[in-house]
Amino acid sequence: MKNTIGLYGLGVMGANLAKNMANNRERVAVFNYTPDLTEKFVGEFSSQNVEAHYELEAFIQSLETPRKVFLMVTAGPVVDSVIRSIIPFLDKGDIIMDGGNSDFHDSNRRFHELNEQGIHFVSVGVSGGEEGALNGPALMPSGDACAYSLVAPILEKIAAKVDGKPCCTYLGPEGSGHYVKMVHNGIEYADMQLITEAYQFLRERVGLTVEEIADVFAQWNETDLKSYLIEITADILRKKDDETGKPMVDVILDKAGQKGTGKWTSKEALDIGAPSSILTEAVFARYLSAMKEERVHAENILSGPKAVDDKMDKDYWINVVKEALFMGKICAYTQGFNQYRTASEHYGWSLDLSEIALIFRGGCIIRADFLNKISNAFKQNKELTNLLLAPYFIEKTNRYQSSLRKVVMKGMESGLSLPCFSTSLTYYDGYRSSQSGANMIQAQRDYFGAHTYERNDKEGIFHTNW
Ligand code: 6PG
Repeated sequence: MKNTIGLYGLGVMGANLAKNMANNRERVAVFNYTPDLTEKFVGEFSSQNVEAHYELEAFIQSLETPRKVFLMVTAGPVVDSVIRSIIPFLDKGDIIMDGGNSDFHDSNRRFHELNEQGIHFVSVGVSGGEEGALNGPALMPSGDACAYSLVAPILEKIAAKVDGKPCCTYLGPEGSGHYVKMVHNGIEYADMQLITEAYQFLRERVGLTVEEIADVFAQWNETDLKSYLIEITADILRKKDDETGKPMVDVILDKAGQKGTGKWTSKEALDIGAPSSILTEAVFARYLSAMKEERVHAENILSGPKAVDDKMDKDYWINVVKEALFMGKICAYTQGFNQYRTASEHYGWSLDLSEIALIFRGGCIIRADFLNKISNAFKQNKELTNLLLAPYFIEKTNRYQSSLRKVVMKGMESGLSLPCFSTSLTYYDGYRSSQSGANMIQAQRDYFGAHTYERNDKEGIFHTNW
């Protein structure tokens, strides 16, 4: 009997996806460029639904037609070379899926190049890390709707489920699935940075111990903040280092790494004119964190405010920080979804923002209860220009904006850097201001470069002889 799907690439994510497919009774052919990972895979996972291959042609020929090949290889040129290597064994109508964190520009190109050869290309954003890949990731597929319908039964089966609904739905043409995954990661960066700032504020400003903060996060996870990232933060704070007995967070060097998807989100936001400042600030915060040696040096040279010694009421401030964090998250997700809207118009993709929020509810790193609210907001009003204007979020921000203000002001007065909290507030205040101050910029541009300006009292384009 032929196999229903081929999984190419048996790194951690690929191996777990193959197991997930086999556990869901798909007959999976597996292949890796080097035999070692294939041997390792079959050594640790035995299933009658798995067929290991060591020859590329035999791997592809073992698949029922139209063949469905799922690539889980390193994003970038490797994807192109793998595609080139399998094309000779494919027929028109076969389908290649790419589940890596590929740049959507590459996915757009691959989609069109393969289309010309009669091969379907389905971009599949995959989120959820190792555990998600094994037990149910969030999947963000795009490409031809007809090609998607052929792979949908498999993808929807292996995806996470929330309220019985798979966290996988057809999103749009070309590489839009990888676009959706990219911005998911931009939101992920912002969410992680906001949580980090809340932790830092509670520790350095309010004076809570690591254990107390773990309890606070665990408690928050029972509220409207409930989310995977809040949950793992509580777990992380409870973990002690085996060697020293100190909290793990205290022995981990404060230099953040990154693989690039957050940066891509920001570059893309700049290209299409989406004000994703909180997402971008989270990328910059990682860059600044990486300058450890410089920061250590500067600490002894550059002065800040005098130490503030006011005693802070713990219970009061825990609640204020909670509200500030929720407010920051609302602003960050608003920016991410606004970027989806702008990109959808820019590329003509007709992305359904309500559906995107729905598939983020399970499996992925940013899964959170309040994605239901985001989904409802876009479902109730398809023309909604900005999430902040949806009734649920108006009510929340009306209640929480003053807490964000309090935390930012306390942080600033004591010299605590709060990049995403402060940018959230700046975005919020900027968005709700009918007067932006840009009249001055227009005047300056006209003054030094005769760039012209519009007036607020009559139509037309004007220039002043300054
Ligand atoms: C996910 C994650 C996943 C991975 C990121 C981390 O949704 O499963 O986003 O894709 O964790 O690649 O990215 P950085 O290394 O850039 O933090």
